[in-house]
Amino acid sequence: MTTRPERERILAAADWNLFRIPARDILIDLLTDSGTGAMSSEQWAGIMRGDESYAGAESWYRFRDRVRELTGFEHIIPTHQGRAAERILFSCLDVADKVVVSNTHFDTTRANVEYLGGRALDIPVPEALKPDEEHPFKGDIDLDALGRILSDDASDVACVIHTITNNSGGGQPASMANIRAASELCRSHDVPFYLDACRFAGNSYFIKLREERYAERTVESIARETFSLADGATFSAKKDGLANIGGFLGSNDDRLARREQELLILTEGFPTYGGLAGRDLEAIAIGLREVVEEDYLRYRLASVAYLGEGLMEAGYPIVRPPGGHAVYIDAGSFLPAIGPQELPGQTLACELYVEGGIRSVEIGTLMFGGTDPSTGEERTATLELLRLAIPRRTYTKSQIDYVLDVATAVAERRESLKGLRIVEEPAHLRHFTARLEPL
Ligand code: F0G
Repeated sequence: MTTRPERERILAAADWNLFRIPARDILIDLLTDSGTGAMSSEQWAGIMRGDESYAGAESWYRFRDRVRELTGFEHIIPTHQGRAAERILFSCLDVADKVVVSNTHFDTTRANVEYLGGRALDIPVPEALKPDEEHPFKGDIDLDALGRILSDDASDVACVIHTITNNSGGGQPASMANIRAASELCRSHDVPFYLDACRFAGNSYFIKLREERYAERTVESIARETFSLADGATFSAKKDGLANIGGFLGSNDDRLARREQELLILTEGFPTYGGLAGRDLEAIAIGLREVVEEDYLRYRLASVAYLGEGLMEAGYPIVRPPGGHAVYIDAGSFLPAIGPQELPGQTLACELYVEGGIRSVEIGTLMFGGTDPSTGEERTATLELLRLAIPRRTYTKSQIDYVLDVATAVAERRESLKGLRIVEEPAHLRHFTARLEPL
């Protein structure tokens, strides 16, 4: 616990950037669902069994076999987290001067493409841009746009990467029909089709609930079908791996995998551990089984929906319906007097912190704005969102009720909120380290 005057001082010392606040000064941490969940007793038992051999550890084989069973990919490259898989993939696909197309790139995915000289193009379906309209699969990729891009000049496209669920677009799922159609379009133009599969289990469960043909199928079999449509996948085990660290890059392309493995050895580690300890590989192998259990997934989606419904009752416009791992407040609509450059999402994030010690994350112009590397122009985000992400198997309902009390208090004084401005920012991924000040 901290007092309000303490939190005001802490926020100022952190230059109004919540990433700069020590975790001990946070009461409820909804910054991310990435690596912040609680591991199960089975996973902790796995940690004790970890085989730390440099080459060919037992833990590696258990990890590899589970990932193969689930994804069907021949080549599995273990990485320390998702962005390492992205960097290796985009380096080996030579994205420089090419386009990578996605429903929506997440921040690190976009940054890795841009850092390597490529252009990251987002083509979500139009429904994704209307936060208050209900739609079962707002995470779909726009197939008309994809068809046009591929017909225009497929050789310009390094790959298509479908993010399931679409994190930057409200944690919304993509349907199997959409993933299949995107995959077929890519295959007919000989363009690699990848999944950013961080939240594949949530996505698969949404397919079971919302896509009629899949109602009777197990989540495991839906997940396997999803992966079977892709040429490869990047994965952060910090999400639906139910682990605190880890990831992988999977594919069926022998030549590409050889290049990826060379880069892996150079920057991550030997191919049977990547950037991970044997015990981490164990925890992930077990997490990848637990995450497809439907009782777990039912609990998971219910907890997110509970927060979403509570926020709506408190007067917050949110991306509807609530996503798989987080609730996204439409801060642009909630604070209409604060323009995109004045960072309405970050303003609200700071307010929730001062009011009750809650940490959330802006997904708007602070995260995605700044100078566009290909045009040199100042860009703003399409939507000004504030994400409240729920760590897995961590918080209780009464803690979420506290979050709702705090949010209600902030909503009552929304008219008095003023925006922020950036005083110092780095070249890439500015939201992590930028310094801000109130207007
Ligand atoms: N792709 C998506 C869709 C993500 O959400 C993330 C991470 C990554 C890739 C990168 O994975 O962190 O293991 O390197 N998202 C976290 C978040 C950080 O808060 O949503 P990583």
